[in-house]
Amino acid sequence: MTALLEVEDLRVAYGKIEAVKGISFSVEAGEVVTLIGTNGAGKTTTLRTLSGLLKPVGGQIKFEGKSLRKTPAHKIVSLGLAHSPEGRHIFPRMTIEENLLLGAFLRKDTAGINKDVQRAYDLFPILGERRKQAAGTLSGGEQQMLAMGRALMSQPKLLMLDEPSMGLSPIMMQKIMATIAELKAQGTTILLVEQNAQAALALADHGHVMEIGKVVLSGSGRDLLHDESVRKAYLGED
Ligand SMILES: Nc1ncnc2c1ncn2[C@@H]1O[C@H](COP(=O)(O)OP(=O)(O)O)[C@@H](O)[C@H]1O
Ligand SMILES: [Mg+2]
Repeated sequence: MTALLEVEDLRVAYGKIEAVKGISFSVEAGEVVTLIGTNGAGKTTTLRTLSGLLKPVGGQIKFEGKSLRKTPAHKIVSLGLAHSPEGRHIFPRMTIEENLLLGAFLRKDTAGINKDVQRAYDLFPILGERRKQAAGTLSGGEQQMLAMGRALMSQPKLLMLDEPSMGLSPIMMQKIMATIAELKAQGTTILLVEQNAQAALALADHGHVMEIGKVVLSGSGRDLLHDESVRKAYLGED
């Protein structure tokens, strides 16, 4: 079986500086795969490259067996790859509903779009309650919910989440993680980048530890959660 996403020897550079130095991993349909690692490891660069926002200098990206190397970003969205970016990037002056609809910009099936807006409100009731409010009035955690809801509006085959728990209170972080678990239970395939290694590994089928542009350790979520070096480096144990 071919994986939904296959990344092989991917290299990405900013000018002369190589930020991603030949990484390989894959994501099977229905899985949650997580990339963990400290600041500057290259996680965001990897996701931005998969989205077509950055062009690799080497390696292969295959989505459903087809190369994405020359595919423009908007086409990548229409192929079924959605990205909830680090820092959320919602549009603060637009309403919550308008922000959600932006995620469906390539779709023309009005009935289906409305159904998915409703689905986002079912997943995140607070967004439904405030749908006519400016998105800038939401708290950080609620804005994260909106960013995830917006990414889901393209009906992705693969949902990429870049640090969804960043800057959130422990309670809000738990809510976001519970939602990711719920999406997984519904069959959504997710590539999750997290600073909270414990929470990410607890729900991931597979994990990859990145350090300065390389994958240094891979395994099942459970194995990595119990790996001594991971516990020391990322789970604050000594
Ligand atoms: N726009 C940019 N221009 C130059 N270097 C960058 C840029 N964005 C990130 N980098 C560098 O690339 C490396 C990887 O960054 P990043 O992908 O953001 O890591 P992570 O998401 O794991 O924290 C870091 O050394 C960072 O300083
Ligand atoms: Mg990052």
